[in-house]
Amino acid sequence: MQLPVYLDNHATTPVDPRVLEAMMPYLTFRFGNAASTTHSFGQEALEGVEKARRQVSDAIGAEPREIVFTSGATESNNLALIGAAQANLPRGNHIITVATEHRAVLDPCAALTRAGFDVTILPVRPDGLLDVDRLRDNFTGRTTLVSVMMANNEIGTLQPIAKIGAMAAERGALLHVDAAQALAYLDINVMRDNVHLMSLSAHKAYGPKGVGALYVRRRNPMVRVTEQMHGGGHETGRRSGTLNTPGIAGLGEAARLARESFASEAPRLAALRDRLLASLQRDIDGLVVNGTMEHRLPNNLNISIPGVEGETLLMSLRDVALSSGSACSTASAEPSHVLAALGVTPALAHASLRLGLGRWTTEEEIDYAAQRLTETVKRLRSMGFS
Ligand SMILES: Cc1ncc(COP(=O)(O)O)c(C=O)c1O
Repeated sequence: MQLPVYLDNHATTPVDPRVLEAMMPYLTFRFGNAASTTHSFGQEALEGVEKARRQVSDAIGAEPREIVFTSGATESNNLALIGAAQANLPRGNHIITVATEHRAVLDPCAALTRAGFDVTILPVRPDGLLDVDRLRDNFTGRTTLVSVMMANNEIGTLQPIAKIGAMAAERGALLHVDAAQALAYLDINVMRDNVHLMSLSAHKAYGPKGVGALYVRRRNPMVRVTEQMHGGGHETGRRSGTLNTPGIAGLGEAARLARESFASEAPRLAALRDRLLASLQRDIDGLVVNGTMEHRLPNNLNISIPGVEGETLLMSLRDVALSSGSACSTASAEPSHVLAALGVTPALAHASLRLGLGRWTTEEEIDYAAQRLTETVKRLRSMGFS
C-alpha cells in the first residue's frame, strides 16, 4: 500500500494509464491542428477528435454531432446556462435551479439574474433530494430552462433526473444536467431521461484536467445555445478555439472506459464505502451521515464528527488525503452551501468530511483510512478540540 491513501476522487481523479496511452500520439507525432486539414497532420488530428466524439456520445446515449468539446464542466455549465437562456429569450426568461448545485451552475445563474433573467433557486429536503412536486409548482409560462445536477460533488446525492426530465418536457422547458461527478459511476442516457444539455468533465472520470464536453441535443427538439467563446467558429460555431486534441482523445478514452466499467465498479465501490462507514460508525461516537444513503454515488461518503473540526482533523491526518468541504470551489472558510441547504448546522458543517473512493481504492486502504481517522478523532477529542 502506498501512502498517502487518496480518498479525494470528487476533487479530481488520477489519469488512467490507458487514457494516457490514447493521448500520447496527439502530444507527439500526431500534433496537427484538427481545423487545418489540407494535409495528413491535420487530418489525423481530426480523426482523433471524431473518434473521441463518438466515444463520448456513446457513453451518454447521444449522437456524435451533439457533443461540443470544452475546457471542462465549468465552461460547459456556463455555455449551457447562459447560452440556452440567451437563445431562448424570445420564449421566456425564467430559469429554475437548485440550492445544492455546484458554483459553476449557481454563479452563471447569478450572472443571468444581474442581466435581468428571473432565476428560481429551489431548496432541497434534509436528505439532499429535490422535491419534484415543489419543482412542478414553480414552472411558469416563461420557464425555458431547468438545471439540476445528476450527482452532487459533496454529498453524492443522486437527483431523480428521469422524473425531472419528464416534467420539464411536459412543460416545454429544457433540462440541463451537470453530470461531472456521474460519468464514471452511473448509467447515463440523455434520450431515456429527456435531458437536453449535459455537462461532462474528463478529470472526474480518470481523464486529464482542462477538458470536458457539453451535450447539446439536435433532435426532438433541436436545442440552440448562443456561443460564449467567439472566434474561429470551431465546433460548428458553438465553441471557438483550437481543439485540445490530446485532451479530447483522453476524454474519449475515459468515457469509453467509464461505460465499460461502471456496472462492475459501482457495486465494488459501494461495498468498500459501506465497509468504511460501518467501521467509522462502530468506532466514532455521534457520527452523522450527511445526505441520503439510498440515492447516492457509490464512491461517496460525507460525514460530520461532532466536536472535531474538519480542518483540524485533516491537518493531523497527513497520510490520508480527503477533503473537509468542496475542494473544487474556492478555498473559503465558509461552511459548505450544500450542507447549509440540507439544514446542517454551521458547527456540524465545519465538522464535515468528504471521502471519495476511486478506481484504484483497495480494501486495505479503506481499513487503513478508517483506523487512522478513528485514532485521530479519539486523540483530538481527548485533547479537548471541540
Ligand atoms: C458537479 C461539478 N460540476 C462542475 C465542476 C467543475 O468541473 P471542471 O473542473 O471540469 O471545470 C465540478 C468540479 O470541480 C463538479 O464537481
